[in-house]
Amino acid sequence: MKGKIKFFPTLLFTLVVVFWVALLSGNLMWTSNNPPLQIIDDMDDQAKVKPQVSSAFFADGKGTRDPLENTLPITGHKYSVELDDVDVKNINNIPATDIVLARGQNRFNIYCSPCHNYDGKGNGLVAQRGFSNPPNLMENAKNLSDGRIFHIISAGQNIMSSYADKTSELDRWAIVHYIRAMQKGSVNPQPVAFNK
Ligand code: HEC
Repeated sequence: MKGKIKFFPTLLFTLVVVFWVALLSGNLMWTSNNPPLQIIDDMDDQAKVKPQVSSAFFADGKGTRDPLENTLPITGHKYSVELDDVDVKNINNIPATDIVLARGQNRFNIYCSPCHNYDGKGNGLVAQRGFSNPPNLMENAKNLSDGRIFHIISAGQNIMSSYADKTSELDRWAIVHYIRAMQKGSVNPQPVAFNK
């Protein structure tokens, strides 16, 4: 009917106007410290101890528990070689076959190249953005024994952290082989399976 205001279009128009006024005035808040409304919470909220955080639940106050005595992590041995034993106890027993070198390259490119670069010369992306001078493994590390390099990957050295939780022992030996192959110039140190 002419002249009669229609209810639903008017309501819609009003809601749109209110929304934009609220949005533009900054009164519509997009962030909140309150937990979101959860119809089905999918276990989003649960009592848990986060890594590196203390917990009053245990008598010693430690949140992260030490491994039980006489148990080993599923990923291999607990690495516990003292510095004096490094060269004696760490022997590379796996053969430097093509597949081992390919694995070493793959792990090196993932875990080491950000700092030491794909060619091992130390100017990786993280270094280019200011991380303090990762050494050139093609020169400095030539004089290090295989065991010492394995140890550095396992335990870290100064500001380089340990990669023991990210690389299995076999992978660390494969990385050592790969670094040696790069030093000898017998592999092509380009990134593989990346930058495609
Ligand atoms: C976050 C950057 C970073 C990553 C990633 C990294 N390193 Fe390092 N690395 C360093 C720095 C910095 C040093 C020098 C530490 C020092 O001052 O002794 C170093 C030292 C070393 C050394 C000793 C060299 C020497 O001449 O003393 C070796 C060997 C080495 N890294 C191998 C590796 C391997 C293998 C990986 C991958 C598993 C790796 N690094 C991952 C930063 C890194």
